[in-house]
Amino acid sequence: MSKTSGITPKVLVVFGTRPEAIKLFPVVRSLGERSDVDTLTCVTAQHREMLDQVLDIAAIKPDFDLDIMRADQNLDELTGRLLSGIGGILDQAKPSRVVVQGDTATAMCGALSAYYRKIPVSHVEAGLRSYNIYHPWPEEVNRKIIGSIADQHFAPTETSANALRKENIAEEQISVTGNTVIDALLITAGKTQSDQKLNPELTSLFAKYADKKIIGVTSHRRENFGDGLTNIAAALKEIAARDDVALIFPVHLNPNVRAIMNDALAGMANVAMIEPLDYPNFVALLNACTFMLTDSGGVQEEAPALGKPVLVMRDTTERPEGIEAGTAKLVGTDKGAIVSEAMRLLDDQEYYQGMAMAHNPFGDGKASQRIADIIVKSLVG
Ligand code: UD1
Repeated sequence: MSKTSGITPKVLVVFGTRPEAIKLFPVVRSLGERSDVDTLTCVTAQHREMLDQVLDIAAIKPDFDLDIMRADQNLDELTGRLLSGIGGILDQAKPSRVVVQGDTATAMCGALSAYYRKIPVSHVEAGLRSYNIYHPWPEEVNRKIIGSIADQHFAPTETSANALRKENIAEEQISVTGNTVIDALLITAGKTQSDQKLNPELTSLFAKYADKKIIGVTSHRRENFGDGLTNIAAALKEIAARDDVALIFPVHLNPNVRAIMNDALAGMANVAMIEPLDYPNFVALLNACTFMLTDSGGVQEEAPALGKPVLVMRDTTERPEGIEAGTAKLVGTDKGAIVSEAMRLLDDQEYYQGMAMAHNPFGDGKASQRIADIIVKSLVG
């Protein structure tokens, strides 16, 4: 379909979890500014509360909401509900192109449903690879499936573009755009300074812990369920035994994560386990912390942009750029390794300063504009 056919082409952006919403709201905005395409959004609500927080802040009113989240959902049921749900929306909306982001079950099913209908797919944050299909699990395979379907691959960096080239993706289908998380971070950091109010719980924690070094913590990865999370919890307990530190830990709503963390850390005076933060408040925590301890992908991109060291509690990463830049370090899920690296950052000023040098390998805040330009050009010429 093109402008010359007299019908405005529709782009359907599909997302379902908090990180997808964070990384796609700038793309939805940039596409929405273009009158030559109609931009529609479909949320699967693979996450309910955590997604809604971002939708509110980004002022996105989804055109379609599948509301598929169930308590403690397993991957088979989740995938089944996502495929049939998204398929139904595609049949109804008949978009000319579908946009997905990253590597979640929603993104994989969005791409697959579109493929079943021969609708072309744009992949935002393409080409991330750990080369281990069980770390992260199931995301490494999700992104490979999406990569084999998409015909527009928006790689955040040259490293990710090279991974796609190695897989024989045609050069004309690859664009190095930067990561849209930097767009989201810059939009949000600007807003936080102007009109956003900080969560009172977070503000009072900053006051309570004013004389301590704050360590921000997040942990939720499925491949860490079981021993990995238990080790992480034990390491956090040992680090929190120091009286010059405080851990602020917004705990993921996944019940598997909550139970283990509560068992190990509940009641410790300098550990604050709090509800998941909305994005402006999470950015405030990133800004306030001395360093981050995390198994998240997005935090590995956000923290270096703010000059905060990141200890990555995973065995592999698909984001080697932060490690190469010296702002992130892989520490795995071994308790001793997590504790000793954290102690080194707390006690060795020179080492800390070396990692805290602000360096942002992930983008310049204009990724969404580039992505919107390429998508619109492919639809209207
Ligand atoms: C998902 C993604 C992961 C991403 C993560 C970010 C997959 C397979 N995994 O993992 O790539 O890094 O999101 O958070 O797509 N829950 C709630 N409310 C919420 C969100 C989650 O109650 O707002 C609970 C539910 O019990 C849900 C469980 O968390 O069943 C797990 O959610 P799910 O989306 O299946 O997996 P995540 O571990 O969040």
